[in-house]
Amino acid sequence: MSETRETAVVQVLRAASGDADAIAQVKVDTWRTTYRSMVPDRYLERMSYAAHAEDWSRIAGDPATFVYVAEDGVGQAVGFVAGGPRWNGPERYAAELYALYIRAEHQGRGVGTRLMETLVTAFERTGYSSMLLWALIENHRARAFYEKLAGVAIAAQGFEIDGVRIGEIAYGWEQTGTLLDRLCNRDRAAGTG
Ligand SMILES: CC(C)(COP(=O)(O)OP(=O)(O)OC[C@H]1O[C@@H](n2cnc3c(N)ncnc32)[C@H](O)[C@@H]1OP(=O)(O)O)[C@@H](O)C(=O)NCCC(=O)NCCS
Repeated sequence: MSETRETAVVQVLRAASGDADAIAQVKVDTWRTTYRSMVPDRYLERMSYAAHAEDWSRIAGDPATFVYVAEDGVGQAVGFVAGGPRWNGPERYAAELYALYIRAEHQGRGVGTRLMETLVTAFERTGYSSMLLWALIENHRARAFYEKLAGVAIAAQGFEIDGVRIGEIAYGWEQTGTLLDRLCNRDRAAGTG
């Protein structure tokens, strides 16, 4: 019996300020499913769609920032990616992936790969040839995803939420071109290329 992995059929669109509500819902819902044991429950419960929508309206409206949303066949947002010039991290990295969130029920079906590929393509067109991102140290699934894409651990930092110390690790890619090849090959191997 041959094993096949179902690829999600999604449409990837550049987001604008008007997509902020959909982005905020994906972000808040995915934080709640992913970070349940990593971030204090009180904080996860306090997260509000409205406050996050305000932030994302500003971020998506910034012309220096790339935000892409993946929509399913009925136009529902199932994931998003955001990135742009480096916000935080070693100066030798030009660009930064700020956020990548796929709804729990749509994970493992190529959507994260596809969104990252779209963002890295935009970085290349903009002339950014290196990039980094931050992941929670305890987020083993995301870390494995980036490590399979040959991300190299380059820095660590911590912050506090409700008195709880949370560690973060940065992954860097010195050549976005090499990362893009890996993303495209993975897509092609899964039959979506
Ligand atoms: C981490 C995350 C972004 C990865 O995105 P994803 O859509 O689940 O990942 P993909 O499906 O693209 O890739 C996962 C696996 O599926 C495989 N895959 C890739 N394309 C595929 C496709 N078209 N069909 C099926 N499988 C595919 C990949 O090769 C990969 O395999 P591996 O785990 O053996 O490396 C996502 O799981 C997520 O949002 N998690 C919760 C939030 C989070 O942690 N975000 C990151 C914060 S730093």
